[in-house]
Formats: sequence, C-alpha cells, structure tokens
Amino acid sequence: MSTSVIDPATTSTGLRDGAFGNARALSCRECGHEVELGPHYACPECFGPLEVAYDFPTVTREEIAAGPRNIWRYKALLPVPGDIEESPNTEPGFTRLLRADNLAAELGLTKLWVKDDSTNPTNSFKDRVVACALSAARELHAKVFACPSTGNLANAVAAAGARAGIKTVVFIPSNLEKPKQVNSAVYTPNLVAVDGNYDDVNKLASEIAGEEDGWAFVNVNVRPFYAEGSKTLGYEIAEQLGWRLPDQIVIPVASGSQLTKVDKAFQELIKLGLVEDRPYKVFGAQATGCSPVSVAYKTGTDAIRPVKPDTIAKSLAIGNPADGIYVLDICRRTGGAVEDITDDEVREGILLLARTEGVFTETAGGTTVGVLKKLIETGQLDPDLETVVINTGMGLKTLDAVADQVGPAATIAPSYDAFRATGLA
Ligand SMILES: Cc1ncc(COP(=O)(O)O)c(C=O)c1O
Ligand SMILES: [Zn+2]
Repeated sequence: MSTSVIDPATTSTGLRDGAFGNARALSCRECGHEVELGPHYACPECFGPLEVAYDFPTVTREEIAAGPRNIWRYKALLPVPGDIEESPNTEPGFTRLLRADNLAAELGLTKLWVKDDSTNPTNSFKDRVVACALSAARELHAKVFACPSTGNLANAVAAAGARAGIKTVVFIPSNLEKPKQVNSAVYTPNLVAVDGNYDDVNKLASEIAGEEDGWAFVNVNVRPFYAEGSKTLGYEIAEQLGWRLPDQIVIPVASGSQLTKVDKAFQELIKLGLVEDRPYKVFGAQATGCSPVSVAYKTGTDAIRPVKPDTIAKSLAIGNPADGIYVLDICRRTGGAVEDITDDEVREGILLLARTEGVFTETAGGTTVGVLKKLIETGQLDPDLETVVINTGMGLKTLDAVADQVGPAATIAPSYDAFRATGLA
C-alpha cells in the first residue's frame, strides 16, 4: 500500500486486515457515537473525544503470562496488530512493582507498592503510549511522527521514531529543563523549542496537524490509540499483585489521560474475569502551581478552569487538561480524591522516595509521593488499605529540582584523620 494517509477523510480501505487488533471502532466518550478506526479524535456529532472500543476475545491469565516481558503481553487488549512484536519499537513496560516497606513505615501505611516506570527505555511511562501511537502511525502510513510535549513525551517519540526509521518532529516549550531537551535532541535533529507554555505548543501542533498531510501527532490526531498505552500500567499492576486490584492508587495528572486509562484497564480486567470485581479508589496528584483539576475537585464543580502553569513540576504543567473532567468523574465515582502540593513539598517528595526506597524520581513522582503523604495526613486516604503509587519518570531529567538541597556531607583531604574529623565513622 503506497498511499500515505493520516487524513480525516481516510476510510478503512487503506488499512490492512487486523491493523488495530481487536479494536472495533472509535467511540465518543460523550454521546457513544461510533466512527470507523482511523486518524480521528473528535466525534463528528458532538465534538466529544473519541476512544477505542473493542470486541475482546476470551483472554486468559496463562496466555498473558506466556507473552513477552513488555507491554505486548497485553496485545489482545490493545489497538495493535497480532504481529506487533515483529516491527521495531522500544518494547517498553513490565517495569518493577516494588514493595515499599520503608516508605510505608515513614508515612504510617500498612502496605505500599511503587510502580516504577522510570526504568522504561527513555525513563518515563510515555514509552508505553508512544509504542501504541507508533503502531497506529505505521498502520495509517504516516510520514512524520510528531508531538507537542512537556518533555518526556518528546523523549519517547524521538527515540521510538529513530528506532522505527520514521521522521520525527517534536515540539516543546522553550523553557524546558535542559536534560529533557538533550534527551530528545540526541535522537532527532528536529527538536522545535516554542516560546510559549505547553498549552501554546499544543495549539500549534493541532494547527499543523490540520494543515499538513501525513503527520501523526501522537497526542493529537492519533490520541485515541496513544492513550490506550497507559492501560498497560493498570494491567501490569494487577498482574504483579497476583491478578488482583489494589484498594487505592495514586496517579499524577497532567492532561489526565493516564489516570483515566488505568481506570479503564481495571474495568476491562473485571469484565474479562481476569480479576475479582471489588472496589478500588483512584486519587489524582497535581502541583499547586498547575492544579486546575484539584481546584475543580475541591470546589465541587465539573467545570475545569484553565490556568497558566507556574511550578517546577514541568512534566505536569498542562493548564487546560483534555481529560480533566474524566479524572474528576473517576476520582469521585471510586471514592478517591484529587489533591495538590507546593513546589517545596514536591522536592520533599523526591527526597523522601530516594532516601526510603532508593528510587530517584523526577518532579512528577515527587508530586505523586508528596500528594500521597498529604492524603494520609488529611485523612483522605485510608492508611490500612493496600496502596499503589505510580512513579512515572526519572530524577536525572530534573536534577535542578533538588541539586541545591543535596551534596557532599564534607569535602576533605585524602587522609584518614580528615575522614575521622567528619564524624561519619
Ligand atoms: C513523568 C510524567 N508523569 C505524568 C504525566 C501525566 O500524564 P497525563 O498527561 O496522561 O496526565 C506526564 C505527562 O507529560 C509525565 O511526563
Ligand atoms: Zn459525540
């Protein structure tokens, strides 16, 4: 097939059989209207967001366990072809679920796990969503693989595109942390720094997607496929707990996509009979300097008022979150909450996780751990229930956040006496 598509007018005619696996259609999250699988993201009836709907076959725990140790072990539940493992991608996922007894003791929790997604190929959970978006881009014959990003997504798109041999162009706010810029630029010559915040970058990307043919913007025109990748976090947590759901889970919120998809994963596992149907609570974490969802949660409204972000948690700095209202829905429906913390508390969260569990997280993870602490202190989270907290990214990308707070305990001459004088022996 030589035609290059990614054009909203594309019909299923340019697609090979099974291009999207067991996915049946794209379905509107507002009105339920269904459209055919393709590069569509808004409902033609009501402009609501589209998401992937499936006709799932019977899937067993044994079939999943026999799969590869990456997200493709769940390929039957994703919008990807059956031969997905044969095409080059970064093979993310199946990251460790750490029992975090030291952090639990520090916080007064009975049982706590950290889902550590900092060990993905480009060190954030974004490798999961990008692997699914890459598959869609490939099946839709895209010429360019692109994204607007708060940093981690750009890293993941640039790396996956390099590996797949497709041209990448990634757009970031120009004030982004240097390590995140370098972590994209090493993979692609096409890093575009935009003088504006993420919401400006996102608007520009939507405009380009509308004007240019053959561009797959992972979180814009192939967003429904991209978003499904976050479900694998939910599947893995359940599988790694021995095929059961946690009582409580704390998840960072930028656009809100990840949180909604972890919930979708839990619901699918229940429907497929892979886990017992029992209640679980979902909590969202934001930094106060960009907390439109938390503010809406606390004021008891459904209306999310966009904000201009001002926080060190730049990966979470989306002032107008596309999935914010769905985050509110899920946190309210499950009996969870959305909470926010200051930048100082974000820094404390980073150091707390590092010093109790040996995991160096970035500001997003500092936000999540700090919010977990606040939820316990304010009585919103039950310390006696089993809790999972997701670490979505890697501390080496946001070194500046804590660089001034840590360093050598002493600088000494290379002599035993000088060492004794430090008092560290
Ligand atoms: C490290 C990290 N955690 C969490 C998020 C939030 O993801 P979402 O936009 O799906 O809410 C992001 C988004 O950029 C991120 O980079
Ligand atoms: Zn609709």
